Amino acid sequence: GKGNYRHFMEKELHEHPAVIGDTLRQYVDPASRAVARPALPFDPATLPRLWLSGCGSAFLVGQTARYWFESLARLPTDCDVASELRYRNPPLTEGGAAMFVSQSGETADNLAAMKLLRAGGQSLVSIVNVPESSMARESDATLMTVAGPEISVASTKAFTAQLSVMACLAINFARARGAIDAAEEARLTAALLEVPEHAARILDVTDEIEAVAADILDARDVLYLARGSLFPIAMEGALKLKEISYIHAEGYAAGEMKHGPIALIDSKVPVIALCPSGPLFEKTASNLQEAAARGGRIIAFTDEDGAVALRRFASRVVVLPKVDPFVAPILHTIPVQMLAYYVAVLKGTDVDQPRNLAKAVTVE
Ligand code: F6R
Repeated sequence: GKGNYRHFMEKELHEHPAVIGDTLRQYVDPASRAVARPALPFDPATLPRLWLSGCGSAFLVGQTARYWFESLARLPTDCDVASELRYRNPPLTEGGAAMFVSQSGETADNLAAMKLLRAGGQSLVSIVNVPESSMARESDATLMTVAGPEISVASTKAFTAQLSVMACLAINFARARGAIDAAEEARLTAALLEVPEHAARILDVTDEIEAVAADILDARDVLYLARGSLFPIAMEGALKLKEISYIHAEGYAAGEMKHGPIALIDSKVPVIALCPSGPLFEKTASNLQEAAARGGRIIAFTDEDGAVALRRFASRVVVLPKVDPFVAPILHTIPVQMLAYYVAVLKGTDVDQPRNLAKAVTVE
């Protein structure tokens, strides 16, 4: 049951810290605190190219992982929505592998994409939350997320569990490929192991995010902006808002704003920014300043170090714990999902059963 929570989504949001912790414990060796070598049908040291596939939020996990696998592990990676991958007949690299992300393990398009890549000689890995699912059966190896059953149609805890698996793989692949040394591996793993604690702190302080929800409640459109590995999380925020609150939202790479979306900006279109301190901070902040100069209402999620600069022009700044940029996508997922939840509650929508949607999409 839902326990003391109003909706399954609220309960499942509060399970983020436990689920991330449980999933990390599955992939990180407790004694050495290093990522254990996952059982895979390929050698990450020599893998020429990796495909990632998923639908909806699971696709956005793939997009995030692509940033990690390429920038950290120097592994050439492609990522597609499964409904495109299954029909676009791409040239496949001999000896390549593919990973399919899915909470249910039953999503028809992802299963079809698997069959296509199998026929193209790729080795297949599924990252699923249901061990006896069709996708688990179809793949050469299955990496489990340890999220427990997810009842709410909108995915929450499965998403951070999937990101946690991907982050472990990114560290492991980076080490296997000689892209990082032991000290860097230890640093990244330590940052990852601290995520559950930070996640719990974010969930503890809900009033600021509820205030943001009240701010954007009457908007017709909302823009979510970010750069780098946070860009897919901006898209996740927009997807969740559309899905359960029925407000039109788009996630954009912050640097793309001036190539079109800036035409939309006025005081009625809230701009939600994921902008923690780090190497891309100045670039993102300057995009936000451009939006503010055109009357845009900027709502920024950042950390203590980013807050000072953003407060000069943002109408609201939500301060999150300061973390290594590597784990920022996992942490920023939590407030954007919470925000969608609070907006939906204020609107009085059917949060756990949004209209027109099904938990597992088993038809094309
Ligand atoms: C988003 C959402 C959907 C699913 C998508 C894939 O909140 O729930 O976008 O992520 O339908 O489902 P799975 O992961 O079961 O393949």
